Amino acid sequence: MHIWRLKWNLPHLLFGLYLHIIIIVASVSLACSDKVPEQLATVMNCSKHERHTRNYDYMEGGDVRIRRLFSGTQWFLTIDDSGNISGTQDPKNCYSILEIRTVSEGGVLAIKGVKSQYYISMNRTGMLRGKKEYSDSCNFKEVFLENFYSAYSSAKWTKQNGTEMFIALSRNGKPLRGRRTRKEHPSSHFLPRECKEDDKHLD
Ligand SMILES: *[C@@H]1O[C@H](CO)[C@@H](O)[C@H](O)[C@H]1NC(C)=O
Ligand SMILES: *[C@@H]1O[C@H](CO)[C@@H](O)[C@H](O)[C@H]1NC(C)=O
Ligand SMILES: *[C@@H]1O[C@H](CO)[C@@H](O)[C@H](O)[C@H]1NC(C)=O
Ligand SMILES: *[C@@H]1O[C@H](CO)[C@@H](O)[C@H](O)[C@H]1NC(C)=O
Repeated sequence: MHIWRLKWNLPHLLFGLYLHIIIIVASVSLACSDKVPEQLATVMNCSKHERHTRNYDYMEGGDVRIRRLFSGTQWFLTIDDSGNISGTQDPKNCYSILEIRTVSEGGVLAIKGVKSQYYISMNRTGMLRGKKEYSDSCNFKEVFLENFYSAYSSAKWTKQNGTEMFIALSRNGKPLRGRRTRKEHPSSHFLPRECKEDDKHLD
């Protein structure tokens, strides 16, 4: 799938437009597959505390993935213990490890911080906030963009004119108000960083 997309995008590369993104993607994937023991230890350490809760999640069903979301503005999305959403550039930050569960067909999913156990929620005004209780405000539609990036728009709320509001991190790593987000902007683009060791640890 990824190889296919890469080939498909090859003509664009000639224009150099996406070249920097490809380089980022390549280095990030490398970082993930060639995980150094220290990073691995951190991931294991981060996951350890919440095992029981995650087993419970498995009982609820649905496809569960453990990912980090790395933004087009170069931040890892975090949800902390007070439900605040922000970006970090520390790859060892436990709050960036997210559980992404499919809740219904059409790419609707819920995103929860593994350590904080807060769901990302967007309200009517487009503000992002962590919520302990799951509700339909925690549902986001995943849209696959070119070059491996995805965007996540609220499945419940839209702007007043009906356009989508996205999860987005500004250049300073702050969450953007949904009304100010656009699908085309790098602040709404996220690279779901797969870390196979996390998944293994879950089983
Ligand atoms: C593991 O987590 C604990 C507490 O969360 C922290 O004090 C410790 O430094 C972590 N160990 C590693 C290897 O990251
Ligand atoms: C969370 O955000 C609120 C409001 O922006 C702020 O007052 C509070 O200090 C933040 N908490 C932490 C732990 O950063
Ligand atoms: C939306 O969330 C923000 C931040 O949590 C809050 O200040 C605001 O009152 C909420 N608005 C509505 C309409 O719920
Ligand atoms: C909807 O509103 C946003 C600003 O809130 C604007 O940027 C966008 O172009 C509008 N879209 C349409 C289709 O009118």
